[in-house]
Amino acid sequence: MSEATQVLEDDSAELADRVRAAHRNYPTGVTVITTSVDGQPYGLAVNAFSSVSLEPPTLLFCVNESSKTHEHLIRTTHVGINILGCDQHDVAGVFAKSGGDKFSQIEWEPGIEDVPLITGAAARFQARITETTKMGTHTVFFCTVVEAEAEDQEPLVYIRGAFVDGSKVRDQA
Ligand SMILES: Cc1cc2nc3c(=O)[nH]c(=O)nc-3n(C[C@H](O)[C@H](O)[C@H](O)COP(=O)(O)O)c2cc1C
Repeated sequence: MSEATQVLEDDSAELADRVRAAHRNYPTGVTVITTSVDGQPYGLAVNAFSSVSLEPPTLLFCVNESSKTHEHLIRTTHVGINILGCDQHDVAGVFAKSGGDKFSQIEWEPGIEDVPLITGAAARFQARITETTKMGTHTVFFCTVVEAEAEDQEPLVYIRGAFVDGSKVRDQA
């Protein structure tokens, strides 16, 4: 490896560290993206989620191709986007682990096209995948919302690698 190439690689590793550190200071909610394929429920924890548009109601989320759920999301038509409630740290933990039978550990019910909807979530969207774009290690899924519901409950918040009870954030507002 030439000296110049080595310097570039060192720079990009350091930039990656700085990018990661910068993202840690951005608070997000925690969603669980769910789907059903051949009668089996699948899902993973995702904080790369955003509203895109209200007309038509459109949202996006990003999933790493290396996750086990990715291959099922690529095959499916509909997803659930479950915004976890402030008392659902344990549910976040279940869906942050790779593989295994996640759905036997939580309460859920089937929605449109059998998408699993997590009981006790602060909010839930049911959506149809309309477009996907590959970007780096991830796939961006654009979806049209077909149903949405919100509970009178604060969300779970994720910041600096930790889960925070959203009702504490509200108390300071
Ligand atoms: C708070 C939090 C946010 C996460 N956000 C994402 C994300 O936006 N996209 C993603 O692909 N993985 C994300 N992950 C990691 C996945 O949930 C994790 O890799 C999971 O084990 C994947 O499960 P699977 O391999 O069974 O699909 C996040 C994890 C946590 C704890």
